[in-house]
Amino acid sequence: MAGLPPSSSVLTSAAVAYTHYLSFMVCFAALVLERRLIRPNPERSEAVLMVITDVVYGLAALALLGSGILRVIHFGQGSAFYTENPLFWWKVGLYLSVGALSLYPTITYILWAIPLRKGELPQVSEGLAQRLRWILNVEIAGFALIPFLATLMARGVGLGSP
Ligand code: HEM
Repeated sequence: MAGLPPSSSVLTSAAVAYTHYLSFMVCFAALVLERRLIRPNPERSEAVLMVITDVVYGLAALALLGSGILRVIHFGQGSAFYTENPLFWWKVGLYLSVGALSLYPTITYILWAIPLRKGELPQVSEGLAQRLRWILNVEIAGFALIPFLATLMARGVGLGSP
């Protein structure tokens, strides 16, 4: 038996949820790619790819935040369902911490753009490559933990008993 066609608000809600998951996957993929690419004194093509990957990561992180906020305000289970749950704030805190950590790599890549534009190669010491690797490891671990908090939060774990 055919059901009713989905209403436009259901489709919008699905699109926002999809944006949330897709941007999460893009962020994760970008971090893993950066982690694979980082090495002392990269070739020009590798350095350019790192810069592009970081821009994609930044845009996807914004889409992740925007779609998350939309889900809290419009398309979720009511904003109080989230804001009253400490797990939600752990999730937001973890997202912001990963974002703060990524400032160091991002500023590093922005500085690479200066020599790259002049046709020169960025100077990347073993120490800097090691530091970036370590930061990316922590970011990847943080990102992997956030969906765990999300799945608990979505099921009301962490809310006080009624
Ligand atoms: C501050 C940023 C974020 C906000 C405000 C936010 C908000 C939300 C909201 C409201 C939901 C819907 C929960 C429900 O169905 O009742 C959700 C689901 C989800 N979020 Fe986020 N989110 C944010 C960041 C992230 C990040 C960074 C990730 C992944 C790394 C993520 C992964 C997920 C997943 C996997 C779900 C689905 C949970 C489930 O239905 O089992 N979110 N998020």
